[in-house]
Amino acid sequence: MNTIGLGTAAIGRPIYINIRHEKPRVDLSLAAFRKNGIMLLDDAYENGIRFFDASPGYGLAESLLMEWLQQKNDPDIIVATKWGYSYVADFNVNAKVHEIKEHSLEKLNEQWEFSRKLLPNLKIYQIHSATLDTGVLDNKTVLQRLYQIKKEYNIIIGLTTTGVNQVEVLKKAVNIEVENELLFGSFQSTYNIMEQSILPLKDILLGTGRQLIIKESLANGRLIPNTSFKEHNGLYNYITKLADKYDVGADAIAIRFCIDSFPDAVSLSGASSVDQLQSNLAATTFKLEEGEVELLSSYKVEPLLYWDERKQLSWQ
Ligand SMILES: NC(=O)c1ccc[n+]([C@@H]2O[C@H](COP(=O)([O-])OP(=O)(O)OC[C@H]3O[C@@H](n4cnc5c(N)ncnc54)[C@H](OP(=O)(O)O)[C@@H]3O)[C@@H](O)[C@H]2O)c1
Repeated sequence: MNTIGLGTAAIGRPIYINIRHEKPRVDLSLAAFRKNGIMLLDDAYENGIRFFDASPGYGLAESLLMEWLQQKNDPDIIVATKWGYSYVADFNVNAKVHEIKEHSLEKLNEQWEFSRKLLPNLKIYQIHSATLDTGVLDNKTVLQRLYQIKKEYNIIIGLTTTGVNQVEVLKKAVNIEVENELLFGSFQSTYNIMEQSILPLKDILLGTGRQLIIKESLANGRLIPNTSFKEHNGLYNYITKLADKYDVGADAIAIRFCIDSFPDAVSLSGASSVDQLQSNLAATTFKLEEGEVELLSSYKVEPLLYWDERKQLSWQ
């Protein structure tokens, strides 16, 4: 079941950008953290999830997956990971800097050396948060190296996008060729009820053999009704009404919206606990009516406002 995949940002490091719904863990020891992570991977697997998204920027996530994959030994498990961000907070919850971005050839080679241990389950290798300003999409040496990796290991090269110019980045990326061959076969982007800017690219992103991965389907938790964003009360009321109708949580409505918008994509769950994952998975138990998708769609906000609001979320 690859309609929903598990994003591992929340299980790899103690804090990340969100609005906190789960109580912060009391036991922040590495051992407790690993245990919780493995438990969530197991629970996801038992519930049919076979798609897992990681990054070296997510602390322990890749090494947890490596350990877990050995126990599972299942060729159906698909892992997507990334390069370009390093986790530097060393599990210090008070760290000022959590991650560093670097889109250089040296970083690519260094991170690939570690990530390749996820083979043969590793099927998608992504540039983490490709933007125009790092110049990564114009860096011929990096693109050539990615092409080499694609050919040598028979994997899909992808990229992830974040921020107000997602569409601009995607439009550039879909046409990039190396050796007269399109380089990118997978695109991971933010899409949710509030941020729908990639919708017009649907046909291109899901064109022949291409994979679309949707992230931040809950707008980092902002789509769960809460009192911090009074301006979204109209949307929260409607989500709550639908949640009552389908007897699921608000999270399942938000994730279902993504599935109904892009039925052929993988939508990532960013669950940090088994309970959240179960609640997220309820999105697969019903389908929204066309009129409901339309009404939810009408709550989209300008990308500039959306990303501005996201910038104000803290690491917690
Ligand atoms: N640039 C990139 O490549 C990039 C960037 C972001 C994410 N990603 C990928 O996408 C995945 C998902 O993104 P995300 O986790 O940032 O965003 P998300 O899925 O939009 O939001 C996750 C948030 O939703 C909350 N949540 C989930 N289920 C809930 C429930 N049942 N009740 C209440 N709250 C609930 C979590 O709460 P708590 O705060 O309580 O844990 C967490 O804060 C990541 O794991 C990662 O794999 C990639």
